[in-house]
Amino acid sequence: AAPGTALPYTPSTPRPARGANGTGRVDFPPDFLWGAATAAYQVEGAARTDGREESIWDVFARVPGAVLNQEDGEVACDQYHRYPEDVALMRDLGIKAYRFSTSWARIQPGGREFNPAGLDYYDRLVDELLTAGILPWLTLYHWDLPQGIEDDGGWPVRDTAYRFRDYAVATHERLGDRVGVWTTLNEPWCAAFLGYTGGQHAPGRQSREDGLAAAHHLMLGHGLAVEALRERAPEANLGITLNFEVEDPLNPDDAADVEAARRLDGAFNRIFADPVLRGAYPEDVLADVEPYGLTKHIRDGDLEIISAPIDTLGVNYYHGNGVAAVPAPNPLSGNAPLSRATSSPFPGGDGAYVHPRGLPVTDQNWEIQPEGLTRLLLRLQQDYTGPRGIAMYVTENGCAYDDVPDADGYVEDQGRIEFIDGHLRAIKDAIDEGADVRGYFGWSLLDNYEWAWGYGKRFGLVRVDYETQERVVKASGRWYGQVATEGSLPD
Ligand code: NOJ
Repeated sequence: AAPGTALPYTPSTPRPARGANGTGRVDFPPDFLWGAATAAYQVEGAARTDGREESIWDVFARVPGAVLNQEDGEVACDQYHRYPEDVALMRDLGIKAYRFSTSWARIQPGGREFNPAGLDYYDRLVDELLTAGILPWLTLYHWDLPQGIEDDGGWPVRDTAYRFRDYAVATHERLGDRVGVWTTLNEPWCAAFLGYTGGQHAPGRQSREDGLAAAHHLMLGHGLAVEALRERAPEANLGITLNFEVEDPLNPDDAADVEAARRLDGAFNRIFADPVLRGAYPEDVLADVEPYGLTKHIRDGDLEIISAPIDTLGVNYYHGNGVAAVPAPNPLSGNAPLSRATSSPFPGGDGAYVHPRGLPVTDQNWEIQPEGLTRLLLRLQQDYTGPRGIAMYVTENGCAYDDVPDADGYVEDQGRIEFIDGHLRAIKDAIDEGADVRGYFGWSLLDNYEWAWGYGKRFGLVRVDYETQERVVKASGRWYGQVATEGSLPD
């Protein structure tokens, strides 16, 4: 199909994992980028410092029942004050790139004037990273919309896309001389559909119409920001990070299961990938969501803006799904610990149910399926990025485990090592088969605020004691640092 033409859905066939089950030394390309990732609201704290005002997450966290144990990001990992220590930690481990996000509510409190004191923080952080020889990889939107903009209607309102562009420009004005890699959005699926349809994430709305309007305007904001930054800095590396799931029919011989997997793949993956990377919404997705009014938000020229050429596709991968047309008798609990949601989590996904497949799971009940990542990267290469010359980076991958620290706070997290090792082998398999994957970011550098799950789910390569803010590198952090230093997986 020509660029700009939506692709039909073709399920790929699960196949034996070579690398994912393999052992033995694996060398990555010499310039493969080894990073770690966090996001502003999950680590910064300092929620009222230097002029920052509330984001939708500050407000949402106060809603009774919205977040486990009513926890919030008021203090989090206090990275706002402890960034020199965190940067030194990364340097000492051998981590080469830090993927962080800027807080829109810090830079433009209330969505009003830009706040120089808020920008100063990122100035200091970026300088600290550069001094340590660590590449700053900046994400502009990791879900923390200023509450003032939500009060004006939030992402379902078109104007928010233009306000996002202005915020991108203001941030680039301050940091563009030192930051070369710019990601517009992180996981717009979550921002749109967990935030505005499922209600599990801020701002906690529960409307299919709002979720779809938000999705379109998030993508429009992405495209507007890409155009504006491209004009300011033609040499900058611009991209977006999408979250992908590999949707496999539970029974590939059952036409109803194949249809359910198609729907879920459309509602989760292709609804973002196609407009951004191919300039068109997929026809089948448009048909699936037709009752919820997406098309009335699409104006002439929007898809050209949304598909403005980018350099990098960030791929976040945690798990795949076995999908059937009937509900699972024993469903795995999904993204929401407390189900405030009354409606289906997203439009278009009706009639598609995720079934446990007996795979091992993480502490969040996410199935562990590294070979899905190989298939995903090859599919993206073939259908989306390859024809457009876009490089891929795995911008998030990792797992929550119930870490048990010893008396010194040290965690022997063999399970996390195996998880990362398996996914890195899966990436190497994809590279060997032709996928242009240039780096990996572990989620996360630190244990942090896992959104509606609060602090209970720990993803860090480094343990954080939230009483003392002490950081202790876990076994996985030491292991990953060695992998990053050597550029290869050990035997
Ligand atoms: C994706 C999100 O970008 C990140 O904020 C979150 O903590 C991880 N997934 C783990 O759920």
